[in-house]
Amino acid sequence: MKLSQLAETIQTSPIITLAAEINALKARGEKLFNLTIGDFDPKIFPIPDGMRDAILTAYRNGETNYPGAVGLPHLRTAVSGFLKHFGGIDYAPDDIFIGSGGRPFICSAYLAIVDPGDKVIFPVPSWNNDHYTRMVRGEEILLETTVDTNFMPTAEMIEPHLKGASLLALCSPQNPTGTVFSREGLAEICDLVIRENRSRKAGEKPLMVLFDQIYWPLTFGETRHHHPVNINPEMREYCVFIDGVSKSFSGTGVRVGWGFGPSKLIAKMRSIVAHLGAWAPRAEQVGIGHYLADTAAVESHLESIRGKISGTLEAFYRGFQQLKRDGFAVDAVHPQAAMYLTVKFDMVGKKTASGDVLDSTEKVHRYLINEAKVGFVPFSYFGASETSPWYRLSVGTCAQDEVPMVMQQLHDALAKLG
Ligand SMILES: Cc1ncc(COP(=O)(O)O)c(C=O)c1O
Repeated sequence: MKLSQLAETIQTSPIITLAAEINALKARGEKLFNLTIGDFDPKIFPIPDGMRDAILTAYRNGETNYPGAVGLPHLRTAVSGFLKHFGGIDYAPDDIFIGSGGRPFICSAYLAIVDPGDKVIFPVPSWNNDHYTRMVRGEEILLETTVDTNFMPTAEMIEPHLKGASLLALCSPQNPTGTVFSREGLAEICDLVIRENRSRKAGEKPLMVLFDQIYWPLTFGETRHHHPVNINPEMREYCVFIDGVSKSFSGTGVRVGWGFGPSKLIAKMRSIVAHLGAWAPRAEQVGIGHYLADTAAVESHLESIRGKISGTLEAFYRGFQQLKRDGFAVDAVHPQAAMYLTVKFDMVGKKTASGDVLDSTEKVHRYLINEAKVGFVPFSYFGASETSPWYRLSVGTCAQDEVPMVMQQLHDALAKLG
């Protein structure tokens, strides 16, 4: 059956395929640690009680009809207050609209900004920009980042590609690296975007920035989240933001997200989301509106989830440093934000006990699953080069007291390599 060009070329995320494969092995009784997926085990990371109870109450109160295309006013007001109180980010309720998680905003922003053939600039590794760019038939401009820039793109890397680009997709804290922009690094990028837009002729499409900050409340230690509009107010005209409850409230299955940005763009994105029907469920909107307005409850939740995630990330980081001291070719970037640790397995060329040579990062990755019984996601699955020795470790399904066992299994598997 011949289908549309989009249907013929669209691919399922390899990360979802990998996670499903590992879960199938677990279902067959294998004891595996699945550190692949950016999701949470609700037994370890439940949504806040107050959020759950408020949603259940909303269902009991019969909040089951259409929620309206912009989202309920009560929730948009609560989101505006949440952004202001916890992030120092000033957007009015009318600038905010609500959808079913972060994805509809990303998809609708691509559809509203990018025409077929337009350049879309994004760093790799990064999450799903390759898929969205292909969906809108944009031209992918990949900027491969390294540990030297904290795996974040820099103004210097972006500058040569600006002419003719309609979208620059950025994410901080970033999936898959768990790293963030420094204030200076982001300020340089903002200057570049403003300069480029000032140089464009009247009637020409602007260069827009899709700024995905869905992990922003999850920063640890000295790390801070920086917001383009707070760095340079002129960015308000050129930036659309993605946010929601999926990560910082571990509500991946709750499906409530919000987007905010310039009103003309937001209005068009709203129309696209409305045609898709990708609204957030009404009872969830009512419940989350009540919950977010309870600043003390939100503060206590954020403190708790930050403590749990950073505790597990730190434990893994220390474990990798110990493996490195033990002489194994591994490394890790110190935890900064989100729910991810960037780890390195520099094992290409090593021989397994049965004499197989691990001649690619994919083989190293498979060895870790089969021998150590631990699943990570190679950065190549996020668009980095096939030879990248870096991997994403996600802690959403792992309790801190399981870390020693994971590290022991890794140690034992690595020790068998010649
Ligand atoms: C960077 C980033 N943005 C957006 C999303 C989408 O979140 P949602 O599940 O709310 O659609 C994810 C999910 O993994 C993500 O990692």
